[in-house]
Amino acid sequence: MNLSDQLISWYQVHKRDLPWRNISDPYRIWISEIILQQTRVNQGLDYYLRFVERFPDVETLAAAEEDEVLKYWQGLGYYSRARNLHHAARQIMQDFGGVFPTTYSEVMQLKGVGAYTAAAVCSFAFNLPYAVVDGNVYRVLSRLFAIETSIDSHSGKKEFDTLAQQLMENSVPSLHNQAIMEFGALQCVPVSPDCSVCPLRVYCKAYEMKMVERLPVKSKKTPIKQRFFNYLVINYNHHIFLQKRTADDIWKNLYEFPLIETDHLLQVQELLENEFFCQLFQGLEQVKIINISKPVHHLLTHRRISAQFITLQIAEKNEALNQFIEIPNVEIGDYAVSRLVEMYLKKEI
Ligand code: ADE
Repeated sequence: MNLSDQLISWYQVHKRDLPWRNISDPYRIWISEIILQQTRVNQGLDYYLRFVERFPDVETLAAAEEDEVLKYWQGLGYYSRARNLHHAARQIMQDFGGVFPTTYSEVMQLKGVGAYTAAAVCSFAFNLPYAVVDGNVYRVLSRLFAIETSIDSHSGKKEFDTLAQQLMENSVPSLHNQAIMEFGALQCVPVSPDCSVCPLRVYCKAYEMKMVERLPVKSKKTPIKQRFFNYLVINYNHHIFLQKRTADDIWKNLYEFPLIETDHLLQVQELLENEFFCQLFQGLEQVKIINISKPVHHLLTHRRISAQFITLQIAEKNEALNQFIEIPNVEIGDYAVSRLVEMYLKKEI
């Protein structure tokens, strides 16, 4: 048995029963792959089921409003995935007559689809021979062949792509790809893998050389940027004010409270002297600060957000407040918000 056969035998015994397996609908496979790109199976499962129930096909997704698609994505993070899915569904309606494309190069044209997703969709749905290379595959290959080339270098990517493709030769693409990813997810795990039960141990160069835990090698460390968000929770006659984040930034097209971003969290006195704050409440007689939450620290992949929620009460409105969306308090649940705002609303912070 070659390596691919070994992986597939292991897979047949150990695979998890997941709803996007044993189906060939490219639409559902695509949705699952986008969800699973930056999300663990356990967390993604419920989102996947809810998503395909509400948007069972390309046509339904294309016809939906982006706000609703984002609401179904709320809490999953990396919201560009949801915006791109929605955009791509419309692309399929317009450019492919509503039929999911069936070739690698066409699938690659869809917004948000890169080499990994195209290979996954084309192999799982159409059994086309494109090897997937994701974090699991990098780990399995780097260990099996004791490759110390950095996986985030240009040459490393090429080396692993070539190797992954070679390993798939003469195998069934859909099975091979599922098998190698599942093997990485369950057996060849990042930390403390149990090599004593590994069927590939006898072939594993890293095991032989006692370097399993050191592989794969990653060279670049992305610096984490710190940001400070002062959120204004402005209460007015059982209404609240929101804004939509439209800039090309984190949480694009999600809703949030009026925000003052600063280079540190503001103290009360600083807040009262803040230019934006003064303009916002200009001319209002009664602006009561009811509460300032404790600072909350929220970690994203490349950012650390420190936030505080400042609750205010006003008795009248002015022009400046018209820049925001005023909604009844009870309707806030209808809006897609970041996990940070959601936690505040659920009183988890
Ligand atoms: N991670 C990415 N794609 C996956 C899949 N199809 N099954 C399980 N985990 C995955």
